[in-house]
Amino acid sequence: MSKNIASARIATQSSELLKALNDSLPFDKILYAEDIRGSKAHAYMLAEQGIISQEDFEAIDRGLSQVQEEIESGEFSFDDGDEDIHMAVEKRLTQIIGDSGKRLHTARSRNDQVALDFRLFVQKNTQEIAKLLLENINTFVDKAQENAHIMLPGMTHLQHAQPINFGYHLMAYASMFKRDYERFVSSFERNNYSPIGCAALAGTPHPISRQITSDKLGFIAPTLNCLDTVSDRDFALEILFNISTLMMHISRLSEELILWSASEFRWITLSDRHATGSSIMPQKKNPDIPELLRGKTGRVNGNLISLFTVMKGLPLAYNKDMQEDKEGVFDSVKTALLSLQVLNEMISDLKVNEAKMAAACMEGHLSATDLADYLVKEAGLPFRDAYHITGNAVNLAEEKGLDISQLTLEDLQSIDTRIQEGVVALLDNRASMNARESEGGTATTRVLEQVETLKLWVSQQKGYRTKQ
Ligand code: ARG
Repeated sequence: MSKNIASARIATQSSELLKALNDSLPFDKILYAEDIRGSKAHAYMLAEQGIISQEDFEAIDRGLSQVQEEIESGEFSFDDGDEDIHMAVEKRLTQIIGDSGKRLHTARSRNDQVALDFRLFVQKNTQEIAKLLLENINTFVDKAQENAHIMLPGMTHLQHAQPINFGYHLMAYASMFKRDYERFVSSFERNNYSPIGCAALAGTPHPISRQITSDKLGFIAPTLNCLDTVSDRDFALEILFNISTLMMHISRLSEELILWSASEFRWITLSDRHATGSSIMPQKKNPDIPELLRGKTGRVNGNLISLFTVMKGLPLAYNKDMQEDKEGVFDSVKTALLSLQVLNEMISDLKVNEAKMAAACMEGHLSATDLADYLVKEAGLPFRDAYHITGNAVNLAEEKGLDISQLTLEDLQSIDTRIQEGVVALLDNRASMNARESEGGTATTRVLEQVETLKLWVSQQKGYRTKQ
């Protein structure tokens, strides 16, 4: 049995089972720095407003610094009796500085306190993830530039479709990561408002200034409505959603890297530091890293759905269900930070097997569409007729055991006499790729243009709207 520390109303001691269910200290400890930072700002504001004395503020500020040092040096002993990080810090503060410590909780509640701490955590990690995303975009863009002439079969339905280049493929992912980055930045800006001072749900009769705490903590302004502020967790759902979307992108790329490193493809080689062996089959080199990145996408999706489910039926304002908001976010954040670091390393080290990719381009009649386009453009045929004639050319190539790009002019004219000189050159795969010069297309010139555009964009990212 342990003492009920957070209640003046509950006379009996809490059951051990209640504690096991109720306590969040085992996992919310990691919010200690946010908790202390928030408390310092709150105490500063209380003193500025004359609600506590300057001496009390100084004692609280000093005491909180000591608590932080104790936690960071490992000296701090987290007490079993402490329900959460907020109670643990406040209790230790009062042990260190005495009665002044008891004044800290004036004009606040754990409801706005936890809303603040958690939001600070989410905001900080939103920035960390965004920073890593920019590093990845740089890596992808550099790699794309190097590989803007390396051809591979572009696919739909995992079937060979049209020739593209590897730089183009990488730029597709770089573009996804750009939007991911923008999602994190826009969430950061939308949520950059201060919850502290909302107290339990209704505000406080003390003459506080939420502007002072907001400024001190680098927020844009205090939130508008306190009832909303202590009740909602959409800022947490946003980071979870942003991470899920990011991981979905990483997972799709991982799936491709896994396929491409299989013997059936061998289009790429992952560096040895991103592959592992088998305990029984000595010849094996397994793509564990992309497999894990793909696999970890499952847990981040679980975390998102889990918090949506927790929140969906809660009446305003705070309900203890909301304590379930943290572990999933901590887990998703950790997963995203690690995944992005690994991804960056893996892509920098990636080796491309140009010959294998080129050989694959000779399968699947990748330039067939170019014949149809030629018949439309040069012979004025309706596309459907051109499509039909091209089908016959593909059949002829199949009969001869060739790719459509290997047919001679005579072969092609045996199908339709409207096919004239110059077609053979058009059906060359590289010519086919470079013919796709429309905006955003795969022609090497267009890919290099995309590279330049994204490089310029990266250089323009200077941080987000904050007061810090
Ligand atoms: N540990 C709680 C949480 O994580 C802190 C807020 C508790 N507030 C309350 N009124 N019981 O949500």
